[in-house]
Amino acid sequence: MTDKTIIDILNGQFKQADPETTLRFLHEKYPGKVAFSSSLGAEDQIITHLIARSGLNIRIFTLDTGRLFYETYDLIERTKSKYNIDIEVFFPDHAEVEKMVNKKGLNLFYDSIENRKLCCTIRKINPLKRALEGVQVWVTGIRKEQSVTRKDMAMFEWDNEYNILKYNPLIDWSEDEVWNFIRGNRIPYNILHDKGYLSIGCAPCTRAVEKGEPARNGRWWWENPETRECGLHLRVKTN
Ligand code: ADX
Ligand code: SF4
Repeated sequence: MTDKTIIDILNGQFKQADPETTLRFLHEKYPGKVAFSSSLGAEDQIITHLIARSGLNIRIFTLDTGRLFYETYDLIERTKSKYNIDIEVFFPDHAEVEKMVNKKGLNLFYDSIENRKLCCTIRKINPLKRALEGVQVWVTGIRKEQSVTRKDMAMFEWDNEYNILKYNPLIDWSEDEVWNFIRGNRIPYNILHDKGYLSIGCAPCTRAVEKGEPARNGRWWWENPETRECGLHLRVKTN
């Protein structure tokens, strides 16, 4: 069976299933090989809650770029202690960061898209590669509604770069569904969300947005909407 056939079958089979059922299936089919990447965003907190509640042995990890908000670090610790779980932290390679920063400056990302992508590669993508070593299923919190770059994404996808099955359990959820679930289940969330920050990444590349403004306007706002991706989620087979 081709990768495309497998993802078509999974997308059909689990279209209506609740995320917990699907996570259980994946955990049984790929024991010890399912990992969830959490940025501690609202969607990610829901997935962490589901994994913790199910008791499934699914690894949860986060990429600490070195430029996160204090409030995000605080949430990592609050989440670990509320659910009594581990959240593995992956850091960038110090030699790569030093070389980049000493050559291009600490805030190089404001100078060009090329610099911004270099920073994201060194601080996020390269650590992600290490985090996904040996993993067969990568769980993420992306949703179609989040941006123009995500509107065609599916619940199950095949990631070319890592040759890995990607599972996006909340792909079709709306913003309201996310927040109703968080509030209804008393899930801990980043306090910056209450201050107008909708989509939260690194501190220098994230800002609050006005009411009604698209969430992604708060990320890399000096770039066009089409380029506002760090590259974690752009290598998917479409045919
Ligand atoms: S980004 O590509 O623009 O940074 P976004 O913040 O929307 O991504 O998050 C989408 C998904 O990417 C998250 O649900 C999570 O699975 C993954 N992700 C993003 N940033 C991180 C991070 N720092 N650590 C772990 N996973 C991350
Ligand atoms: Fe660097 Fe900004 Fe990308 Fe974070 S989001 S890795 S600070 S360019």
